[in-house]
Amino acid sequence: MFMDAIPRRLSPVRPAILDLEPNGIAKVAMLALGEPDLLPLWFGETDLKTPDFICNAAKKALDDGFTFYTHPRGIAPLREAIRDFHRRTLNAEISLDRITVPGAAMLAVIEALQCVIEAGDNVVCVSPVWPNIFQAAQITGADVKFCRLQEDWTALRWRLDLDKLFDTCDARTKAIFIASPGNPTGWIMSPEEQRAALEFCRPRGIAIISDEVYGTLVYDGAPHAPSFLQVAEPDDAVFVVNSFSKPWAMTGWRIGWLAHPAYIAEQMSVLAMSNNTGATTFAQWGAVAALSSQGDAFRSFLLERCREGYEITRRFVDSQNRIRWMPPQGAFYGFLHVDGMRDSFGFACDLVRNARVGVAPGSAFAPPEDTASDSYIRICFAQNPERLQTGLERLSAAVAAL
Ligand SMILES: Cc1ncc(COP(=O)(O)O)c(C=O)c1O
Repeated sequence: MFMDAIPRRLSPVRPAILDLEPNGIAKVAMLALGEPDLLPLWFGETDLKTPDFICNAAKKALDDGFTFYTHPRGIAPLREAIRDFHRRTLNAEISLDRITVPGAAMLAVIEALQCVIEAGDNVVCVSPVWPNIFQAAQITGADVKFCRLQEDWTALRWRLDLDKLFDTCDARTKAIFIASPGNPTGWIMSPEEQRAALEFCRPRGIAIISDEVYGTLVYDGAPHAPSFLQVAEPDDAVFVVNSFSKPWAMTGWRIGWLAHPAYIAEQMSVLAMSNNTGATTFAQWGAVAALSSQGDAFRSFLLERCREGYEITRRFVDSQNRIRWMPPQGAFYGFLHVDGMRDSFGFACDLVRNARVGVAPGSAFAPPEDTASDSYIRICFAQNPERLQTGLERLSAAVAAL
């Protein structure tokens, strides 16, 4: 509408904004969001509500009058609890001047990008990758380049070709974005790969933005996936993003954290003040409760539920002729390859309209030239087992009819 009325060249709105479009997951979801007979497996969240002890801590904070501005980088008890969380899950000592609570993890990604990107710079994303990330990079004015993980159907693993990653970087590359465990693939980067990436990036002045929001959702029994915080030096240009959203079922709280180099602690305060003056105060008190031993117990419970979802999905995939996967090492997604399907967006729309199950199209996680991702759909298996089972049965019938 607007663009019909005002020619683009006269609009003061930046082209990076005018060019924005809802990503493929959002477009599919808009077809039937909230419709009761539709089984939604499309978003990255469990159907469990946030546990009461976390909600109660936030309610108490409101009752106790914690309704004012706080330290822009987060209240001291929360930053201390995050430091202790790093100690017990990563065995890493991350000082308080390296920890900022900006609000949601998405804002942590944005602030990391704000730290490093200038016009004309680029960010290299290991893909397939959650689209909000590369859209956020584009909004900052960055060009986005992609380095696709490769399928290894023999070992049933996604693999990162480090040479390809490094070849994708050029003189204008300011950051490499890596999510491990990955969304949608569940791939996990090894400590050796992390060290090699650091060695490549250090002399070139390239930052690493390491998204570890699924860090504790791993299936090998470890307390956390390998973290860049375990291999980087305190002053390395490494930004580690984490979130309360997934392991504590707190997606609606919009709270996470960023570990960054100590030498920009003061600047992170100013950034926070310019972005949102810090995270919501009572949500921060909920997050303090999440990091308690009760929170650890809830995380174990949620992980068990994810394990059940993983098993249901594995049995489903094993029973199918046309669906394959590389089992995820972490996170809570099945990234399912549907043989013979070439248009994941069209298929996902058909699933909504006819089969009444919501999935995310593989094309949403990749640039248009990556046609290989168009043979995939993503489901979130962190769901009630019966509902997941029903959703997968609906999917099975639709694939049979393809
Ligand atoms: C890889 C990745 N990073 C970040 C986020 C966002 O986390 P938050 O809800 O804290 O913004 C998500 C959510 O799906 C994600 O998949």
